[in-house]
Amino acid sequence: MFPTSRLRRLRYNPAVRQLIRTTRLSPGNLVMPIFVRPGKGLRQEIASMPGIYRLSLDALVEEIHEVKQLGIGGAILFGIPAEKDAVGSDSTSPQGIIAEAIRAAKQAEPELLVISDVCLCEYTDHGHCGPLKVIGGRTEVDNDATLRILARQAVVQAEAGVDLVAPSGMMDGMVGAIRSGLDAAGFEHIPIMSYAAKYASAFYGPFRDAAESAFNSGDRHGYQMDAAASPGQALREIELDLAEGADMIMVKPALAYLDIIRMAADRFPGVPLAAYNVSGEYSMVKAAAAKGWIDERAIVLETLMAIHRAGAGIILTYWAKDVARWLQA
Ligand code: PBG
Repeated sequence: MFPTSRLRRLRYNPAVRQLIRTTRLSPGNLVMPIFVRPGKGLRQEIASMPGIYRLSLDALVEEIHEVKQLGIGGAILFGIPAEKDAVGSDSTSPQGIIAEAIRAAKQAEPELLVISDVCLCEYTDHGHCGPLKVIGGRTEVDNDATLRILARQAVVQAEAGVDLVAPSGMMDGMVGAIRSGLDAAGFEHIPIMSYAAKYASAFYGPFRDAAESAFNSGDRHGYQMDAAASPGQALREIELDLAEGADMIMVKPALAYLDIIRMAADRFPGVPLAAYNVSGEYSMVKAAAAKGWIDERAIVLETLMAIHRAGAGIILTYWAKDVARWLQA
């Protein structure tokens, strides 16, 4: 009790504050998302995500060198194909954009961890995460048909040299199908980071602009989680993915779901847990910073600190390069 206890004694100078810190950001725990498209010499800035680009393969190579030099934990690649169709054919072609991008990235920096998004929404002309079929009068993604394509995608990506696959489609049985596909093709050593608890979120808006994957009808509520569902449902999703062979798990988005991150960290302490600081979280800060209303660097460091403190050891963020530079300075 005051005056015996004075918590301000723990803050009275910078050295004391530094000594007692327990949450620290490190570039090695960050993952940089990168959008890749066919072509040459392309660096197309995404209108809703200032500072983030759609890169052609040559520009990707430069970006990969930079990510490696900054000591960032890895890069996650998203392909935007030249041609989209109803079943996302480009995603399973060894000459498709994601396979080409993985080969280019691994050739440029063999030691850098290269992760690939395993999903269909960037590759389908309707923008959904799998082929469609009518279920009970509604057009919905065909779960089991999607599983076969996802397993094939993962094998094509592994053949191209990917280090880690990250399925994001929220299909039931997705991790198991990918695990069996990889194992049957001799890739039993390739780990799976599952987007296990992925919510249907308005925070993905700018990503769909980036990946040109806005859907022309419907929404993702038939497969991605409902924000209002019991938080226990996120734990069931995670449990199932782990039972199917997930090596790492992810909660997405991050900021509006810190409670879910904390629950997952407490419930599965031995499982590497990632959080995706998504496109909308990035765009909001960028827009306010451009107006001079907030201090971008301070807001970003505080936000990522909160995500880390909530329990995410790994953070996927469009600020990965900036943070690495800020931490060096
Ligand atoms: C699906 C995928 C999405 C994101 C990552 N993987 C989009 C979606 O589910 O609509 C969103 C990431 C972001 O918003 O930054 N392949």
